Amino acid sequence: MATHKLLLLPGDGIGPEVMREVEKLVGWFRKRGIGFETETDLVGGSAYDAHGKAISEDAMVKAQDADAVLFGAVGGAKWDSVPYAVRPEAGLLRLRKDLGLFANLRPAICYPALADASSLKREVVEGLDIMIVRELTGGVYFGEPKEIVTLEDGSQRAVDTQLYTTHEVERIARVAFDLAKKRRNKVSSAEKFNVMKTGVFWRQVVGRVHKEEFSDVELENVLADNCAMQLVRWPKQFDVIVTDNLFGDILSDIAAMLTGSLGMLPSASLGAEDPATGARKALYEPVHGSAPDIAGKGLANPIAMIGSFGMALRYSFGLGEEADMLDKAIANVLASGTRTKDIAGPGANAVGTTDVGDAIVGELEALS
Ligand code: IPM
Ligand code: MN
Repeated sequence: MATHKLLLLPGDGIGPEVMREVEKLVGWFRKRGIGFETETDLVGGSAYDAHGKAISEDAMVKAQDADAVLFGAVGGAKWDSVPYAVRPEAGLLRLRKDLGLFANLRPAICYPALADASSLKREVVEGLDIMIVRELTGGVYFGEPKEIVTLEDGSQRAVDTQLYTTHEVERIARVAFDLAKKRRNKVSSAEKFNVMKTGVFWRQVVGRVHKEEFSDVELENVLADNCAMQLVRWPKQFDVIVTDNLFGDILSDIAAMLTGSLGMLPSASLGAEDPATGARKALYEPVHGSAPDIAGKGLANPIAMIGSFGMALRYSFGLGEEADMLDKAIANVLASGTRTKDIAGPGANAVGTTDVGDAIVGELEALS
C-alpha cells in the first residue's frame, strides 16, 4: 500500500483548532486503508516563540521531504513587533519560495445551502464555481529591492519591487488554461496594463501562450480593479481567473466572501511537475488567516481547512473519488444546518469547530 507523507503545520490562532478536525479525517481515511503518515511541526509565531524564527531548518527539511504540507494559519497581534525577517508570515513565504510553489489554486464554490449566508443576493452567488489561479512565488512579494532606506536629509524611502520573467508568466498561464479545459473553457487574465509595465508584459505573455498552445480556450483580459468590481457585481461570468501574486491575494479574499465566509475557501499551492516521477511539491492551506479574536474558543469554521485536505487528496494523492466524497459530506453537513457562527445566519443556532468536524466524519460514514 502506498504511504502518503503529510507534514502538518497548524501554526497560530485558530490554525491548531481547525487542523485537529483534519486529523480526525486522516484517522478516518486510515481506517479505510489509505496509508497516511503524519508529522507535526511549528510555523509562524509559535515557531518564533520556540526557535526565534518563523520556521526552523528542521521543519523545512521535513517540508521538502513530505508528499504534501497541510498549513493552518499564522500571525497575531502578539508578534506584531517582531523583526520583519522573522515575522510569522515569513514562515509561509519561505515555504512557498523554497518549495517552488508557484501555482496557487483558490476555488470559490457557493454551496446551495449557503447562498443566503453571503452578503450578496442569493441569485448573484447561488451555484457559483470559479477558480482563482494566483501566481505565488514572484511579483511584489519577492522582488528586490525590498527595503526602507533613510535618505541624507533624514527622511525615508520605502520600495517594493514588482518583477516578472517570461518563464514565470508562461508557466502560471499554462496552469490556468489547463484547468479551464477541464471546466468551462474560459480564462480571465487580470492585470493593470494601463499603469504597470509588468501588466503590459503579463498581457503579452499570456496572449502568446494562448495563441500558440491554447487557442481553443476563450481568453479575456481584464483590468484587476475592474475584475474586483465584476466579482461582486456578477461573479458567475468568470470561470478561471489568472493573476499575479498581489492581485491574486486581494481578488481571492473577495471571492471567498462570495461563498458566504472566509472560513469556506480552501487552497492548493503547487510546484512544477518532476519530469522523472510526475510528482509535484504541494502545500494546502485555507485562505483565511489566524483569526486571533476567536482563537481557542472552538468557534472557528474548519471547512476551509478540511476542503484544503480534500484538495490534497485530489491533487497530491490521486484520490479523486475520496475527494468527491469529502466534498459531498461537506455539502450534506451544510444542508443539514450544522454550521459555525460565521455562516449560521442571524438568529440561527451555531455549533462549534469540533461539531462540524464530527458531523463531516458522520456523513463520510453514511456515504461509504
Ligand atoms: C494568503 C495570506 C498570505 C499572503 C499572508 C499570510 C502572507 O494573506 O495566503 O492569502 O499574503 O499571501
Ligand atoms: Mn490573503
